[in-house]
Amino acid sequence: MNLPGYRLFQRTVLDLTGIDLDSYKGTQMERRLQTIMRRAGVSDLAAYARLLSSCPERVKEFRDFLTINVSEWLRNPDKFEELQKVILPELLKRNRTLRIWSAGCSNGSEPYSVAMLLDEIDPAGRHQILATDLDGEILKAARAGIYQERDLRNVSPARRARYFTQEGPNFLLTDRLKARVRFEQHNLLSDPFPTDLDLILCRNVVIYFTEEAKDQLYRRFHAALKPGGILFVGGTESLLKARELGYASVSPFFYRAVK
Ligand SMILES: C[S@@+](CC[C@H](N)C(=O)[O-])C[C@H]1O[C@@H](n2cnc3c(N)ncnc32)[C@H](O)[C@@H]1O
Repeated sequence: MNLPGYRLFQRTVLDLTGIDLDSYKGTQMERRLQTIMRRAGVSDLAAYARLLSSCPERVKEFRDFLTINVSEWLRNPDKFEELQKVILPELLKRNRTLRIWSAGCSNGSEPYSVAMLLDEIDPAGRHQILATDLDGEILKAARAGIYQERDLRNVSPARRARYFTQEGPNFLLTDRLKARVRFEQHNLLSDPFPTDLDLILCRNVVIYFTEEAKDQLYRRFHAALKPGGILFVGGTESLLKARELGYASVSPFFYRAVK
């Protein structure tokens, strides 16, 4: 990070948001800070820190910038098919009731996708799906369960008919599926983790984290998983040091915790 005054800026951000920028990659942060400062009409970090301190709206804008919320149902459909046909049935053989965590769940598309797949293969199951995100605003949208066409491009007409009611451009998720996911605000870099999990999805969240922050996160996921539990990562992600971190690769993007 070459921007002058970054340390002080980090402190201001920590005070205002509770987010420690130390875990975010310097080069990407620098490029994106340049952009957001240009947009805000300030020329250095000290001025931007003053702007943030004086204006809650700007703090919200900065949070949004850190937490890009792009998501969709069944993101990488072939991987969700593998989840439904291979991974979940295997996990269900070991445990009748699954404990699942969608970490960095954004608007809920990801945990609800899992709830839908489980409903299809085990409708009577009483599985626990916890979904968390840093961003409280996006969690409100997730709880509301209202989606648009662009969110559902991977969802077949049969599934849409079964799990949604359409009102104009909005697709309202059925209460039955909504009730299967519990949403909570949570920072992956500082809050305690749940335990005894069968499956963790952490997809497209760590892109801006440093290698150290990622390693630490994957170690903590390992501790949070049951022996044989599965970590499901994003379609452009891989655990370079999987074995060292305690995982065996199952297939691309799925890792099993070895304990
Ligand atoms: C691009 S979305 C990914 C959503 C979903 N997992 C998917 O793959 O479609 C990234 C999400 O990670 C969340 N996020 C970023 N940093 C986080 C952190 N430190 N703790 C928890 N969530 C975080 C963002 O708020 C955002 O909603």
